[in-house]
Amino acid sequence: MVTIRPATPDDSQGLVELRTALQRHDEASNPRIWRNTEEGNRNLEADVDKMLSDEDGLVLVVEDGGDLVGFAYGRVVSRRDYLPETVGFINLIYVREGHRRKGTGIRLVRELCSFFRARDVDEVNLNHIKGNTEGESFWTKLGFEVVRVTANTPLEALEKRLAELQ
Ligand SMILES: CC(C)(COP(=O)(O)OP(=O)(O)OC[C@H]1O[C@@H](n2cnc3c(N)ncnc32)[C@H](O)[C@@H]1OP(=O)(O)O)[C@@H](O)C(=O)NCCC(=O)NCCS
Repeated sequence: MVTIRPATPDDSQGLVELRTALQRHDEASNPRIWRNTEEGNRNLEADVDKMLSDEDGLVLVVEDGGDLVGFAYGRVVSRRDYLPETVGFINLIYVREGHRRKGTGIRLVRELCSFFRARDVDEVNLNHIKGNTEGESFWTKLGFEVVRVTANTPLEALEKRLAELQ
């Protein structure tokens, strides 16, 4: 049976593995995204600990027969200088291949929504990688719309382009 529950410190190692799998998935979706260095990989465990002790965040794990097969991490940010003042971020969400298209992603978002509702969130935000087709379809189905685009180019390529324009 598939269950969703808040993560505990005992889930740390499983969460490191799931976060690594999500990073690999993102890299496969678009080769232009930033990649983890060796140091970044070593810091993953500390990152997971930070996520687990985030008082403004909620980490959920998906368990199937004792195995962790997915997770999600959402957090609330309040500020005075922008409207809406209280926004929820879905920072990370991942369901292992073979467990997808069974409604688990939706269940995770539902749980994060309850957490956001309890914290008076007005709006839910997230980033996704261009080229991540399942992510794009998933968020579109849930009514998310693109409002900001991140673009990149190597400095050398930009210099070349600028030189051509002279
Ligand atoms: C995105 C992700 C979390 C969705 O999880 P999931 O458990 O498969 O989601 P659900 O089963 O709840 O899907 C809900 C709906 O989203 C849409 N959807 C999900 N995956 C899709 C896909 N591969 N192609 C088209 N539509 C898709 C469908 O409308 C689906 O409803 P349906 O199955 O009734 O047609 C999962 O695919 C995943 O972990 N992908 C890799 C990591 C990732 O992309 N994370 C998001 C980064 S921002």
